[in-house]
Amino acid sequence: MADNDLYMVYHGLLLPKIVHSEESLKYLENFQVKDDDVFAVTYPKSGTTWMQEILPPLLNGGDLTSVETIPNWDRAPWLEETRAALVLDKLPSPRAIVSHMHYHLMPPSFFKSKAKVIYVTRNPKDVIVSSFHFHQMASFLEDPGTFEEFTDKFLSGKVFFAKWTDHVKSWQKPELGDRIMYITYEEMLQDLRGVLSRILKFLGRELSAEALDRVVDHCTFKNMKTNKMSNYTLVPQEFMDNKKSPFLRKGIAGDWKNYFSPELDAKFTAFSKSTMQRMADSDLYLVYHG
Ligand code: A3P
Repeated sequence: MADNDLYMVYHGLLLPKIVHSEESLKYLENFQVKDDDVFAVTYPKSGTTWMQEILPPLLNGGDLTSVETIPNWDRAPWLEETRAALVLDKLPSPRAIVSHMHYHLMPPSFFKSKAKVIYVTRNPKDVIVSSFHFHQMASFLEDPGTFEEFTDKFLSGKVFFAKWTDHVKSWQKPELGDRIMYITYEEMLQDLRGVLSRILKFLGRELSAEALDRVVDHCTFKNMKTNKMSNYTLVPQEFMDNKKSPFLRKGIAGDWKNYFSPELDAKFTAFSKSTMQRMADSDLYLVYHG
């Protein structure tokens, strides 16, 4: 894989040039992680924007001001993107930071710190569907072609941030101990309040029942869809065309059933069997089997 007009290559990862650069990746490499930083790490289209909505109020006593007034990319910035250098050093601690980086590409200071990580996964078939639509609406990403063609690209890792399996596997790190918690997009859909309570416990924080209810309500799909600070309608249409496909598209589990023919599903299973095999020591794939 080589650089092209849309993507640069960084340690084998395709990264959209619109928000990544040599400088932003230098910033990432030299970034000084603080012990009270909280990272939400995801493979793209697995619930990043959702975590950017959830974490700031959980970290600041339930105050919704930041999610109502600051765009998601500035209130919980991507560590690897160009805005990081502009906003991260000014963010008050504890900082909520998101990243799509594979584990070994985190900055050296991360490994020496006590910073916590919430790793979110989503059924890879729904990730493909979501990503397919994202590639249609975002002019800074390659045209996805047909759904079948895009699925082929996804499975062979020729998409931004490379293979889903490699990403998920890279973050299966028992050595992180109680610094990491794993949650799934599907769990958040099923019981958002329950997941938020678990996150609070993981972070050693508390909220009153009323404050928690307010955060949960604010972070529902319906409410996020109308929040200009989170629904990407602030981005000019030439970059993200929400008319082609809204960024906050459907927000459901199992949409893959509307896109995968039986043949494509069989192909997905056959292709992923070998890579999934490598994940046998984790029960993550079991969650998504079928
Ligand atoms: P869909 O395209 O399936 O609707 P990311 O933020 O990692 O790019 O992921 C985007 C996906 O998360 C989109 O999926 C988006 O709708 C979904 N999402 C964001 N906020 C959500 C919420 N509050 N509830 C359910 N899904 C949400």
